[in-house]
Amino acid sequence: THQWRGLIEEYRDRLPVTEATPVVTLLEGGTPLVPAQVLSERTGCEVYLKVEGANPTGSFKDRGMTMAISKAKEAGAQAVICASTGNTSASAAAYAVRAGMVCAVLVPQGKIALGKMGQALVHGSKILQVDGNFDDCLTLARELSENYPVALVNSVNPVRIEGQKTAAFEIVDMLGDAPDIHVLPVGNAGNITAYWKGYREYAKDGLATRTPRMWGFQASGSAPIVDGAPVLKPQTIATAIRIGNPASWAFAEAARDESGGLIDKVTDRQILSAYRLLAAQEGVFVEPASAASVAGLLAKAEAGLVDPGQRIVCTVTGNGLKDPDWAVAGAPQPQVVPISAAAAAERLGLLG
Ligand code: F0G
Repeated sequence: THQWRGLIEEYRDRLPVTEATPVVTLLEGGTPLVPAQVLSERTGCEVYLKVEGANPTGSFKDRGMTMAISKAKEAGAQAVICASTGNTSASAAAYAVRAGMVCAVLVPQGKIALGKMGQALVHGSKILQVDGNFDDCLTLARELSENYPVALVNSVNPVRIEGQKTAAFEIVDMLGDAPDIHVLPVGNAGNITAYWKGYREYAKDGLATRTPRMWGFQASGSAPIVDGAPVLKPQTIATAIRIGNPASWAFAEAARDESGGLIDKVTDRQILSAYRLLAAQEGVFVEPASAASVAGLLAKAEAGLVDPGQRIVCTVTGNGLKDPDWAVAGAPQPQVVPISAAAAAERLGLLG
């Protein structure tokens, strides 16, 4: 039997680690690439979902965090810090536990999902809510890491990108080549940067014959790259991508332009509709921000901008359990029945 060894061991020769690097891992990566039947029918394409919510802390952040925490430990750091809309902090908190490090977390007040807050707390991180948005948190985290003995593990740390690029490797390893199009949500723009780097490396080394077009989607109330200017008060129900001034802005534009791709925006309504479709028709429960990729693909397909027959991968970045409020909201309360098979059968419509 073969157990997946975590992405540092699986892709060691493609990552900046040496024998001296202490590998801090929860055996992240190796996530499912699920064929999406309904999305394939709707688009006339061969659509797959890269289900990153299957990572140990429930999001793609674990890919970057195994690298960031391992390298911080190698450098002798005793404490790490991050700004976060929730998933980075959940991941940093867990990996800091594995490394025996202190983890400090800065989140925007009242704007992170409960599940993510719970993760940071239960893993014992030192969490502060900042009276500001994610961009303010990142500015603060940078300043603290420059002036105090604490290592920054946000995706502005280049080893985070190195870890996250392995998702592109896994996709090519599974499909035998790069897809035609790769679709993903864009917040701070680290992940689109990372995938593009991964695809380019595989193509350069002859492990793929081509690179995909990169399609990124922001939430319409938090779409600085699409709108061409920072958004001072970003808004969206997809709190994970509620970001007004992405740190990797220029890299995201390079990924878009070099790949012949696009970055566009989707409304919260489109995001929620894709969120419900994924759960109700594909059986894949993701958090709202993750559904931005699928919402974007569906919008482009409806506009006639997706040629049929293509192979398309959508990354769904985080697990639905992170933010279950949106699953419960608007759904009818389950009915209460007595302990009676006849009553239950009647309510379930089993009586014919
Ligand atoms: N999807 C989810 C679920 C996320 O948590 C994030 C980012 C993104 C998409 C966007 O990825 O920033 O690389 O463009 N979450 C960060 C955090 C900001 O703090 O957890 P990106």
